[in-house]
Formats: sequence, C-alpha cells, structure tokens
Amino acid sequence: MSSKSILLLPGDGIGPEIVAEARKVLTWLAQQSGLTLVMEEGLIGGAAYDATGNPLPEETLQRARACDAVLLGAVGGPKWEPLPYEVRPERGLLGIRKALDLYCNLRPAKLFSQLVDASTLKREVVEGTDIMVVRELSSGIYFGQPRGVQTLADGSRLGINTLSYSTSEIERIARSAFEVARKRQKKLCSVDKANVLEATELWREVVIAVGKEYPDVALSHMYVDNAAMQLIRNPRQFDVIVTTNMFGDILSDEASMLTGSIGMLPSASLGDTAALYEPIHGSAPDIVGLGVANPLATILSAAMMLRHSLALPELADRVETAVNRVLDQGLRTPDIMQTGMQKVGTVAMGDAVVAALSES
Ligand code: IPM
Ligand code: MG
Repeated sequence: MSSKSILLLPGDGIGPEIVAEARKVLTWLAQQSGLTLVMEEGLIGGAAYDATGNPLPEETLQRARACDAVLLGAVGGPKWEPLPYEVRPERGLLGIRKALDLYCNLRPAKLFSQLVDASTLKREVVEGTDIMVVRELSSGIYFGQPRGVQTLADGSRLGINTLSYSTSEIERIARSAFEVARKRQKKLCSVDKANVLEATELWREVVIAVGKEYPDVALSHMYVDNAAMQLIRNPRQFDVIVTTNMFGDILSDEASMLTGSIGMLPSASLGDTAALYEPIHGSAPDIVGLGVANPLATILSAAMMLRHSLALPELADRVETAVNRVLDQGLRTPDIMQTGMQKVGTVAMGDAVVAALSES
C-alpha cells in the first residue's frame, strides 16, 4: 500500500470552504482505494500574515518542499489590501511559486457540455472549447528587476516593472508546452507581443528553435491582442497556448468564461521537483461564509494532482467522471445556475461528488 503526503493551504476568503470539499473527496478516495494519504494543513496568504506576520512562513515552504504535492485554495481579500506590498497575501502565492520554481502553469479551459448555456457567450461559439493554456509562472514581469516606485528629484513618482526572460527560461516552458501539445491535438500557439517588446521577440525566436525538436507539433504564433480577440471569436481554433506570465494570467481568465464559470477551472503549477494545485479563481470576498462557493475547480485541481503528482490517473478519471455526473444530475452552485436546475451550496456540491464517486 503506497503512502502520499499532501500539504493543504486553504488560505483566505472562500479558500477554506472549497479546500474542505476537495479534502472530503480525497479522504473518500483514499479509504476506498487503500491508499494512505497524509493530509496536513499549513498557512499562506492573509491567514499566515495574521498568525505570523508573514504571508509565506518558512515553515510552510519547508513543508511544501517535503510533501508530494500542495493543494491551495485562494489568497487575498480587502482586509489585507492596506498592508505594505511585501506582506500582502499575494506575495505568499508569488513567493511559493518562485521558491519552488513552479515555472509551468497548466490551465485547462474545457467546456463541460452541460454548461454550454452558462457562458455569457453564444452556444455556437463556445461549444467544443477545449484549450490548455500553458502559462510561464516563475519569471517575466511578475518578477523582473528593477521594480518599485521611485520618487524623482522633482518630487513626482515613477512606477517601474521589468519584463525579462532568459533563453533558458523560455526553453523550458516551451518544451513543457510542446510535450503537452504532443499528448493532445499537436497544435501549439505561442502568444507574444514580438512586434513591440524585445523580450517577447526573443520568446518567439526561442520557441521556434525548441520547435525544431517537435516536428510533429504544428507551431503558430499570435500577438496577444489578437489572441484575446480570437479566443472569443473562435475558441475551437486553439489546442495548446503557451505564453508569458502576465499574458497567461489575463488570457486564462478570459478563457475561463468560455467554460461557463471561472468557478470550474483547475490548475497545476509544476516545477522540476515540486507541484502545487489550485483553482484559478480568487478568494471571492463577496461570498465568504455564505456557503455558496463552487468547490468544483478545487476538486478538479485535486484530480490534476492525482494525475500529475501522485501517479494515480485512474483515480483522477473517477473524480472527473463524478463531476460530470453531478452536472448531469442538474446540481449547480449559484455561479453556474441556470433555470430548471437545482441550486446547491458548497457542502452539498462536495457531498454530491462523493455520492457520485460511490456509485461509480
Ligand atoms: C492567478 C492570480 C494571481 C496571479 C494573483 C492572485 C497574484 O490572478 O493565479 O491567476 O496574478 O498570478
Ligand atoms: Mg489571475
């Protein structure tokens, strides 16, 4: 019987509510399959700041390094917005991505056919959407130096952020994306702004060079402004998209609306020696404590964890099938509610996934 260890980082806002549902699903799976799953909770974000004065305590990092995978809820909220930049909850999330060198962020935007009418976009546009956004996660403008706000001699202020990418950083994310494309429809679109930004001109050059190793994958390039438009014009043209940290942040939110709700989208942040899984949505301060948050993105993130970090693809399949089943049953949290469906809260949705698992 194998044993795996998972660090749960519920974080802030709805984070604890949705992570509790994923934990319920994992606990049930472990009991059923004879797998020993050691799940411990740690602190990150505003919750960590409140308890320790640091949004990413050293203890959390050490435990994250020692476990098989990390499952995170969400960080941030209005309570911590007045804090200095260095101790804001978001620094905890960016800090763990950097410290574990989680450079490859997989954000699948796949439409569940049951939710085709939940999207704000027309059925004929979104039907069949199945895109994998591969976002570079540990470099780019999020981390480039110099950065900050300077006060100039005349007393005015100057805000600075730097977009920088080294060839090795581009090579490794390009390679990850080509590997992903190889297992899908073998189409990779690299998104940049090479007509304006030198750093992404280099990005394009290096992606093309890496592409020589993958002659079986059809490589194309698109400027980010055009990509933003093409995503809602004709999403079916995309299979895998690879892009920089900030463009990936923006385009993955946009892509999520093709699937009905941002509350449905999981993600995996992978490094060479560590992995973290989290829903792509945020801490949703407006619905905290109401018991209405959609736990499915976190449950699907747990499925990605089973597949990518715990080498348990059959359990991952079972979770995904169970999520499909509860959608077939017509159960909907408010974010994906449609007329004629049955509105349920966070806990009932988690329970329904477990019930669907036990029927499979
Ligand atoms: C995301 C989020 C984060 C990001 C925030 C919370 C720092 O928007 O994971 O997409 O910008 O990467
Ligand atoms: Mg984002």
